[in-house]
Amino acid sequence: LDYDHKNIRWSGDAMTEAERSKMLGNSGLVVWMTGLSGAGKTTTAQEAERRLIAKGIPAYVLDGDKLRHGLNNDLGFSDEDRKENIRRTTEVAKLFKDAGMVTFVTLISPFEEARQKARNSIGDNFMEVYVKADLETCQKRDPKKLYEKARKGEIRSFTGIDSKYEVPKNPDLVLDTQLWNEEECAEALIGAVMAKIKR
Ligand code: PPS
Ligand code: MG
Repeated sequence: LDYDHKNIRWSGDAMTEAERSKMLGNSGLVVWMTGLSGAGKTTTAQEAERRLIAKGIPAYVLDGDKLRHGLNNDLGFSDEDRKENIRRTTEVAKLFKDAGMVTFVTLISPFEEARQKARNSIGDNFMEVYVKADLETCQKRDPKKLYEKARKGEIRSFTGIDSKYEVPKNPDLVLDTQLWNEEECAEALIGAVMAKIKR
């Protein structure tokens, strides 16, 4: 670095998070959704987002595929790049949460340690959701035909094929998309969210 952090001074927010959430009627929350590609992270979060907004609760999905088109478009899928992807997204999610949003983060986020770091960094109003579907099921679904490409060797370091996925040890919620349909998953998710954010 060619500068000293001591020269960067942040004088603080105009409002505290408590003031803000009292006036808005709900507090912000980060809902960290982890799971294999094709497990249903994006689909479930988008449905929950729509239902929350319909109730008047501000919600937004920070999706891996989407962020990788902009903020994270310099990152690939090495372990290091995935960690950086998660770190940056954690920082953005924190801001959204502070602004009062129910913020769904839908990243594969394959490493337990990186998810733990996100939890520690975000602090209160964080929940980890494991969007559960086994590799066989995800390969059968293969909505973007990425598993097919990975098997042919056209994509390297693909999660579940030649890059690891660590199943969450203590998730706050498990959504089993093999047992439950989209509506059931979204409802279960909203139930957990409402219990956390209501003032
Ligand atoms: S990570 O591991 O959290 O950094 O990944 P993420 O930012 O969620 O990006 C996953 C989406 O990128 C597409 N894609 C890949 N996924 C995994 N491994 C490799 N090599 C890969 N290449 C591209 C894929 O569309 C993932 O989206 P989802 O929604 O999970 O299927
Ligand atoms: Mg997705």
